[in-house]
Amino acid sequence: MCQDCKKKFYITTPIYYPSSKLHIGHTYCTVAADAMARYKRLQGYDVMFLTGTDEHGQKIEEKAKAAGVTPQQFVDNIVCGEKGVLDLWKLMNISNDRFIRTTDDYHVAAIQKIFKKMYENGDIYKGSYKGKYCTPCESFWTESQLVDGKCPDCGGEVHDAEEEAYFFRLSKYAPRVRELLTTTDFLEPKSRVNEMVNNFIDPGLEDLCVSRTSFTWGVPVDFDPGHVVYVWIDALFNYMTALGFENDRHDDLDRYWPCDVHFVGKEIVRFHSIIWPAMLMSLDLPLPKKVYGHGWLIMDGGKMSKSKGNVVDPYVLAEMFGVDALRFFLLRTFPFGSDGNFSNELLINTINIDLANDLGNLVSRTTAMVEKYFGGTLPAERQFADIDDELILMLTGLRGRYEAQMEKFQFQNALDEVFRCIQRSNKYIDENTPWTLAKDEANRTRLATVMYNLLESVRICATLLLPFMPDSCQKIFAQIGATEDITTWDTAKTWGKLSETVTVHKGEAIFPRVDTAKAIEQLEAIEQAQKKAALPALEIEPLEEQPVDFDTFCKSDFRAVKVKACEAVKKSDKLLRFTLDDGTGTDRQILSGIHKYYEPEELVGKTLVAIVNLPPRKMMGLQSCGMLLSAVHTERGEEKLNLIMIDDNIPAGAKLC
Ligand code: MSP
Repeated sequence: MCQDCKKKFYITTPIYYPSSKLHIGHTYCTVAADAMARYKRLQGYDVMFLTGTDEHGQKIEEKAKAAGVTPQQFVDNIVCGEKGVLDLWKLMNISNDRFIRTTDDYHVAAIQKIFKKMYENGDIYKGSYKGKYCTPCESFWTESQLVDGKCPDCGGEVHDAEEEAYFFRLSKYAPRVRELLTTTDFLEPKSRVNEMVNNFIDPGLEDLCVSRTSFTWGVPVDFDPGHVVYVWIDALFNYMTALGFENDRHDDLDRYWPCDVHFVGKEIVRFHSIIWPAMLMSLDLPLPKKVYGHGWLIMDGGKMSKSKGNVVDPYVLAEMFGVDALRFFLLRTFPFGSDGNFSNELLINTINIDLANDLGNLVSRTTAMVEKYFGGTLPAERQFADIDDELILMLTGLRGRYEAQMEKFQFQNALDEVFRCIQRSNKYIDENTPWTLAKDEANRTRLATVMYNLLESVRICATLLLPFMPDSCQKIFAQIGATEDITTWDTAKTWGKLSETVTVHKGEAIFPRVDTAKAIEQLEAIEQAQKKAALPALEIEPLEEQPVDFDTFCKSDFRAVKVKACEAVKKSDKLLRFTLDDGTGTDRQILSGIHKYYEPEELVGKTLVAIVNLPPRKMMGLQSCGMLLSAVHTERGEEKLNLIMIDDNIPAGAKLC
């Protein structure tokens, strides 16, 4: 079918803040949108899948300043740098058709035009804003919206702020937005509708502050220098500017707008289901067909965040378990509309049970048996039995059941349908005991039929798994001898598409079993190393501000001392006992708690510095007459100590001043 005649499907993810590297939680929505886009392509749709980055705002400006770079350099590094956003989507096999950055020239110019249009139609007006401001969320809040005096989104501190600003007449659109949410399927899951209506619309929608003067990293309001456009206005319109709205970089607005679905995390549903449609209403533009607010991946009951120290690095997980296994896990384990508790154990269990045991075994047992009993190629004759009917019926009906779930974005349920068929097929092996059939030449045709049925079952299941695990499914097709023309949406509902004399190619295990204990240990070690690497490389104590007068300083008697003997003090983990030559002719004993840093034998013969006029102290029953000087600092959170060692030419007893 020609591209123009195809039905269109436009899907978006939120555009990500490149304020720090993305974690597995960010990956969740993009993988879901990718599975959806691939599913629609499989069905024959002309798909536009958009993702991108939301690069303006105070938080980015501040982070760039702290890093000593310009905001543009800062975002360029996180978006395009090594292991940045673009690399991550490549790694995760994300098939987006377009990628927008809100710093792209065409987008910036379009936002200026859009802002001006709403100003000219009277929906944006100038006023002054007083309120509680949350810097990380770049949001003003009213007193009543605060939770225990803190930002309702991130729980962080807010502060009083006032600025001259432009406002959008959000209040004017409250009745229409309310109607949209309550009488249509615009927002899903339905639970999110109640949340929006009860928490935001019914208490009264106030006009929205849509410009800022307290920072400069944003789209400038071209008719009023000093003002930059509120980051959410800038961000939300990406969904249209990326198609060519108010710019001539792209020209597929007519083709794809209105959007079929915006996938967004639950905390940004408010922006997408209230502010976004209100602005589109203001400009008399068609509304997107749907906003789907998915849940969060949480860890230990809280949202993942870098500050909580529980970030899970998608690079590490993909490298250890494979990209497809990770993609599959995210959509198989958690219902898309609700929160899901992420853990490494859960990830490994899913891989071992669903992929290694169920799917992996089905493929490897089937291909191995075709090789063993038929040298890899099935004979053409068939002998069907009643027992086959149930399997065939289940598999030919799978596509319909799967589709019903995919259309509702219920990835978990769609996968459940597929895996029920996989489990049924494994049971079919046990019911038919091919190894018994193989013992009698008279059963050869029946055995070939059992094998063929299993291969057909694998073909249909793997076709429907393509949106989730594209690479692995291609490997499966290669092993079962399925060509491209019979791994399509159409052929996924029809039995008997593989050639009667199909040839299989048993290959390596597609989903190797994971040794749970070993993998967990490895992950914990990586996590510790990452946490350590995130600590400051070097920390030194702040300088003493209190002055010391010269006479007091001169009273401290520092001497060069030579280590004659050194040993660990019995029953102490820390203490070393030094016998020192201090130039007086009488040995001096000093105890020092530095065993963690030095072995006694390595210090014998060294020339050190001691303060010798401290009053003697008893430690572990031994007298310590003075103190050895050392340098201390902290490296990656670990305290380091170095004894001060001086030139061996300096004689014992030399005074340091
Ligand atoms: N820049 C805005 C979106 C603008 S869209 C016009 C933004 N960016 S974000 O980088 O902070 O978040 C992007 C998406 O990642 C959001 O949908 C958010 O819900 C999602 N997630 C961030 N952490 C998440 C989890 N732990 N779990 C699931 N999704 C998570 O918001």
